[in-house]
Amino acid sequence: MPISERLNSSVSATPQGHKLDAARQRLIVALDVPSAAASDELVKSLEGTCHWFKVGLELFTAAGPAVIEPLVARGYSVFLDLKFHDIPNTVAGAVRSAATLGVRMINVHAAGGPAMLAAAKSALDSVANPPELLAVTVLTSIDAAALKAGGIDHSPAHQVELLAKMCLEAGIRGFVCSPQEVAALRSLAGPSGILVVPGIRPAGANPSGPNIDDQKRIATPADAIRNGASFLVVGRPITQAPNPAQAAQAILEEMAEALPS
Ligand code: C5P
Repeated sequence: MPISERLNSSVSATPQGHKLDAARQRLIVALDVPSAAASDELVKSLEGTCHWFKVGLELFTAAGPAVIEPLVARGYSVFLDLKFHDIPNTVAGAVRSAATLGVRMINVHAAGGPAMLAAAKSALDSVANPPELLAVTVLTSIDAAALKAGGIDHSPAHQVELLAKMCLEAGIRGFVCSPQEVAALRSLAGPSGILVVPGIRPAGANPSGPNIDDQKRIATPADAIRNGASFLVVGRPITQAPNPAQAAQAILEEMAEALPS
């Protein structure tokens, strides 16, 4: 069943008391750690609490595709967050390789352009049960000043909209976006669009404190869900907490409260 249908059925079939399970299907923990051993330890500490894990550049570069297999074998859903951005032929090949790993989501940078996006999309045409292909719009660590430094003289929101329209034309309906652009992307992508949202900081996080780290365009878990996020990606607020399972549980509770009954 496609991810968007699974999410909708998990909410509508879920009575109030089971909203935590629906929230669990929407929380992706970023395994931003330097080794397979550190990843194993983190995943073990979250057993029974979390269902989705994200393998990104740090872990994949250190441990390779082998780090994914045990996660898939244990029934976890995996988002392989390698943000491909290269010429169309190279990205198509990378997408085909990623699709053999048993992961449920992969991604490319929307800034790669229309031909690259179309090549990534068509690379999955012949794959049975393909992973969801997401496009990264503007990184959550980028603000207007950073865009301007790169020669783009308009707001992140406008840039996200331009990139999203380009993705939709290429047939890509899944996005990685900041919490601040979720509502706009939800209306562009429609109810079946998959919106995966990093830059999440729990309600208790101090907006100028160390919990924010390098993220610029942030929101609380509840606000991101209320604005239409399909999935939240959370790294350091869980992985660097003294008790990761407790931190994840608190985030799940915040998400559950914001889910529609
Ligand atoms: O630790 P933190 O919660 O900031 O981690 C966010 C995760 O989401 C990181 O793994 C980062 O690579 C990823 N991400 C992001 N912004 C994007 C896409 C992915 O922060 N636009």
